[in-house]
Amino acid sequence: MKTFKDIHSLRKELNNKKNIAFVPTMGNLHDGHLALIKHAQKIADHVIVSIFVNQLQFLPNEDFNRYPRTLTEDCEKLNALGVNFLFTPSNEILYPNKQDFLLILPPVANILEGQFRPGFFVGVTTVVLKLFNIIQPHISLFGKKDFQQLFLINEMVLQLNLPIKIEPYDIIRTPDGLALSSRNRYLTKTQRTEANNLFLTLKQIKNKVHNGCSDFKTLQKDAIENLHQRGWKVDYLTIQNSETLSPAKINDNNLIVLCAAWLGKTRLIDNIEI
Ligand code: PAJ
Repeated sequence: MKTFKDIHSLRKELNNKKNIAFVPTMGNLHDGHLALIKHAQKIADHVIVSIFVNQLQFLPNEDFNRYPRTLTEDCEKLNALGVNFLFTPSNEILYPNKQDFLLILPPVANILEGQFRPGFFVGVTTVVLKLFNIIQPHISLFGKKDFQQLFLINEMVLQLNLPIKIEPYDIIRTPDGLALSSRNRYLTKTQRTEANNLFLTLKQIKNKVHNGCSDFKTLQKDAIENLHQRGWKVDYLTIQNSETLSPAKINDNNLIVLCAAWLGKTRLIDNIEI
């Protein structure tokens, strides 16, 4: 695997290469990231992964400083998969100047994650757009784990006419259902045992809707109450239309339950498509 830290040498390498797939990450790679990368290898001739913990998408009180940085282990995993290229820019390379040229996002960026993490999606879309411009991939892969992020990247590509195909990828979970996340490592043993109840709660809602329940408000309220009783602090748990991300209406065909909730100091997000 060839690793690049600067833009010039990366561009020289990628110039004229066709069919490049790009997987942006913040590192601390787990099987969710690796599944995206393996899929990229299936659908493209060259795969490039980036590892960059993007401060622009963290609020001042969030976990930027303690976000796990495990570059040596990450490189071993990528080498084992036979990944072609890795881009690990420093903050100075990616943000040589104050990044005050930012994107104005649609209102959907201000709900759900955007409501609880103001500015988060400006940080995400800005860094992804910069990485797209640097790497100029033909395809880029994003996990459905971060459903609203995927939604906004799709909108960005569509509305800004970026010549990139966005490839979504299913959520990878542990056998007991917990969605893999770099933040799972913050959980204590007891919290880790409890954590799978987030997915179970979402699955229960899906089953109830499949069985004909369309009282979404009550489903949401009961699920939130249940999680509270189990010790969770719920930021949101809501049934939305998966094509617009607006609140679900009774006759909507494509529904998704989205949730963000805290176990102690750890914030987990998850979702399930109905
Ligand atoms: P990160 O959290 O490292 O995730 C990188 C990619 O892996 C994202 O597309 C995310 O949705 C996907 N992913 C994470 N956990 C997953 C799981 N359990 N199953 C499937 N896919 C999973 O998301 C980011 O980084 C950043 O916001 C980034 C896009 C890199 C911009 O900084």
